[in-house]
Amino acid sequence: MNGEFSYAHRDTSSGERRSVTAEFNIPRLPSALEEIRRSAFDREIPVSDGETLNFLMTLVSALRPPRILEIGSAIGVSAAAMLLASPSSRLVTVEKNVSFADEAEENITRLGLSDRAEVIRGDAADVLAALGGEFGFVFLDGPKAQYVKYLPAIDRLLCEGGVLLADDVLLFGYVSGEEEVPKKRRMLVEHIKEYIDAVKGGGFATSVLNIGNGVALSVKKGGLK
Ligand SMILES: C[S@@+](CC[C@H](N)C(=O)[O-])C[C@H]1O[C@@H](n2cnc3c(N)ncnc32)[C@H](O)[C@@H]1O
Repeated sequence: MNGEFSYAHRDTSSGERRSVTAEFNIPRLPSALEEIRRSAFDREIPVSDGETLNFLMTLVSALRPPRILEIGSAIGVSAAAMLLASPSSRLVTVEKNVSFADEAEENITRLGLSDRAEVIRGDAADVLAALGGEFGFVFLDGPKAQYVKYLPAIDRLLCEGGVLLADDVLLFGYVSGEEEVPKKRRMLVEHIKEYIDAVKGGGFATSVLNIGNGVALSVKKGGLK
């Protein structure tokens, strides 16, 4: 496995980290998207596990935000899933790895969704700093150690009452204390805890949920001061 992704996805449907609800939360995807998702798993490309994807689709179906921002496109699986779940939404997705971004664009086009999607190539820190407008929903699924650093820019871009979903916040049980934290993951765990503290610290209403690899669901209520 590519070292960059050595704490990559654990697909709930593969049985690696099954929550008690996982079997009820397998997403219903069109076969073309399921095929792309399976090819990502086969190539060890980190895409959200089934339970997280299912939750994401349920959430955007309910919210139908005019504009969605995603940090971390990989090959476009979650981006396509959100666009399919909310047919009135437009989406901007940011990806640093150019070959992933190219593939995300190809996949989104193949699924007939390209008129509602923009794939931006670049480091999320730079892209977020330059991005304007307002988003009703943000899916934060890029480098976990940077979540807390991205938060002020996300806060600026998120509308009042907007929803922010951050993936992988329990990090295979390291953050929740279920599993002993390997030495090389200690800093990462600290950064994720800082993120959780920041979104719990006022300005957002936040619930951490044991879905997939753990998600933090936040609603902007005044935002960071
Ligand atoms: C977990 S994957 C995204 C999975 C995708 N959201 C899905 O569920 O289909 C995280 C992605 O973030 C990208 N990434 C890592 N560091 C980044 C950065 N600094 N800026 C933008 N993207 C970054 C990685 O290349 C990787 O494709």
